[in-house]
Amino acid sequence: MGLPDAFLEEVRRVADIVRFVGEHVALRKVGNSWKGLCPFHQEKTPSFHVRADPPVFHCFGCGEGGDIFKFVMLRERVSFPEAITLVARHFGVPIPERSFSVGPDAKQREELFAVMEEAATFYARTLWSEAGRTAREYLLGRSFQQATLERIRAGAARDSWSALLDALGRKFSPTLLQTAGLVLQRQDGRGLYDRFRNRAVFPILNESAKVVAFGARALDGSEPKYLNSPETPVYQKASTLYGLSWAKESIRKGGRAVLMEGYLDVARAIECGVGEAVASCGTALTANHARLLRRFSDAIGVNFDQDAAGQKAALRSLDVLLEQGFKVAVVELPEGHDPDSFLRQHGAEAYRERLAAAPSYMEWLIRKAAAEQDVNVPAGKAAFLNAVLPTLSRIESSVERAAWIPMLVQAGRLDEAATIEELRRALAARGSAVVAPLRGRASARLLPVEKLLLARLLRSPEEHAAVAELRDEDLAGLASAPLLRAARDLCLRREDLSVASIAAAVGGDDSRHLLSEIAVADSPAGEQGVAECLRELRRLALSRRLEDIQRRLGQEPLGEALELLLQEKLTLQKEIAAL
Ligand code: UTP
Ligand code: MN
Repeated sequence: MGLPDAFLEEVRRVADIVRFVGEHVALRKVGNSWKGLCPFHQEKTPSFHVRADPPVFHCFGCGEGGDIFKFVMLRERVSFPEAITLVARHFGVPIPERSFSVGPDAKQREELFAVMEEAATFYARTLWSEAGRTAREYLLGRSFQQATLERIRAGAARDSWSALLDALGRKFSPTLLQTAGLVLQRQDGRGLYDRFRNRAVFPILNESAKVVAFGARALDGSEPKYLNSPETPVYQKASTLYGLSWAKESIRKGGRAVLMEGYLDVARAIECGVGEAVASCGTALTANHARLLRRFSDAIGVNFDQDAAGQKAALRSLDVLLEQGFKVAVVELPEGHDPDSFLRQHGAEAYRERLAAAPSYMEWLIRKAAAEQDVNVPAGKAAFLNAVLPTLSRIESSVERAAWIPMLVQAGRLDEAATIEELRRALAARGSAVVAPLRGRASARLLPVEKLLLARLLRSPEEHAAVAELRDEDLAGLASAPLLRAARDLCLRREDLSVASIAAAVGGDDSRHLLSEIAVADSPAGEQGVAECLRELRRLALSRRLEDIQRRLGQEPLGEALELLLQEKLTLQKEIAAL
C-alpha cells in the first residue's frame, strides 16, 4: 500500500495511545493502565483498558483489543492505511504523497479533473444559452429554481454529435477525452463523437467537489432514461455518492445522512433546504459507500422511491448499512411518492416530520414482515422469522440484538425460547458469537508460563532472540500456540516484536484478543526470563508425553509395543532430567 516504512515508524513513535484514546473515551488511571467504558460494546461498569507500554488497548467485556491503528479502524470503520493517515494527521506527522498522487498516474488524474471541469462548464453554459432551450424548459418546467440548477451545476448537452468534441478538442487530446468517457470512437474507427446528446446533464462531484462524471437525463423519452459516465481512473461508481460534497457539512452537523435514489431527489432536497441528502449513482449501495458516509455520521435515514423497485433496492442497501454499524431508519412516504415529488407537493416541513417519525430498520422490517405473513399459522410464523432473522443477526451489538426479541416475539406471535434458539442458529451460520454473554478472560485458558512468556516478549526486547529456539512440538495443545509461533517466526525474520506485528501475523480474532489482553495486563509475577520460560514449556510438553506413555503402559501392551513404549519412556525421562 505505498506508505513508506519510515513514515509508519514515525507515526508509531509519536502516536500516544493513551492520549489519543483519552480524547474519545473518558479514562481514569488505575495502577499502570487506564480504564474507561468500552466504546465497542455497551456497558455500565468500565472494562476497557489502555496502557502506554506496551502501547495497547483491550476490553475485558467484549474482548476487542489491539494497537492505536486497530482502535481507529474499529471506531471510524476505516481500513488500515486510512487509520494510519488519520492518526498521522492527529499527531501532526506530515503525510507523504500517496503513490497515486505522484508519478504518471497523478498526472493523468490531474488531466482528467481538468477535462471534466471544462466539460461541466461547457454544458452549464449551454443550458443557459439558446442551444440549451429544451433542457432548460424541461428543468424549469419541473419547477426547479434557477438558483438550484446553478448550485448543482446542471447543464445541457445539445442535440449534436460533436458539440463537446469541437469545443474541447483543441485543448485536450482525443485519448484523454475518450478516457474521460466524454467521447466515443465511431464504429468504422474513423473519428469520435459525443457521448451525451440532447440531454440534461448533471455533474457528479467527488467528495472534494471535483467533477468526476456525469449523469445525463433524456429529454425525449429515449432510453436509457439516464446515461451515465463510464468508470474512469477518477470515477468509481461503487465509492461515489452524488451530492456528498454539498451534504457532508450538514451530515456532520445534524448527525445524520439521508440516502435517496435519484439525482433529482437530491437536487430537490437541496432546493428545499434538506441539505443532508445523497444518492448512489445508479447502482446498489456498496460497503464502500457506507464506509464513506460513516466518516460523517453514524445515523442514516433511507428514503427510496415508494414503488416495488425502490423497496427492493432499499432492502439490499439497508443490510449493507447495518453491517457498517449505522443506526438505520426507513423514511416512509405515501404510496407512489419519491422524495422529489413529496417535497414539491408537501414542502420541507412535512418532509422533516417524516424524517423524525421514520422507524428504525428493525422495527420497520418487523412490521412489514408481520403484515405480509399470517402469523397465526405455523408456516406464517416461520416465514415471518425467516424474513427478520438474517437482518437481526447482522446487528453487531448483542445487547441491541437482544432488545429486539420482545417485539419480534409479539409481532410474530412466537415462543420466546424458540425465537432465541433460532437467532442463535442464524448467528452461528454467520460465524458470529452467540447471543449475548460477555466473554470473560480469554487468558484464563493459559498456563502461567504462557502468560509470563508472552508478557516478557512484549516488554523486554533484549530477550527476544531466545524465542527463535521455540519448537512446534512444545506448543501442542496450548491456547497461545498461534501467538508464540508468530512471535518466533517474526524473530527468525529479525522483525520487531510488538502487539501490532504479532497481531498482524496471526489470523483470527481469538488470538488477537488474547494478545491484547495479555499486553494490557500488568506483567505476571515471576523471575523467569524468556529462555527459562521456553525450558518450562519444553518440560511441560515432555511431561505430557510421559503421562501419555504411562497411560498406554497401563493398558498392558505386549511384545514389541511394550518394548517401544519403555524405550520412549526412558528417553523422555533422560530429556527431562537434562533440562
Ligand atoms: P429514477 O428513474 O427514479 O430517476 O432513477 P429520478 O432521479 O427519480 O429521475 P426523474 O425524477 O424520473 O427524472 C433513480 C436513479 O437511478 C439511476 C439514476 O442515478 C437515477 O437518478 N438511473 C435510473 C440510471 O442510472 N439509469 C437509468 O436509466 C435510470
Ligand atoms: Mn425517482
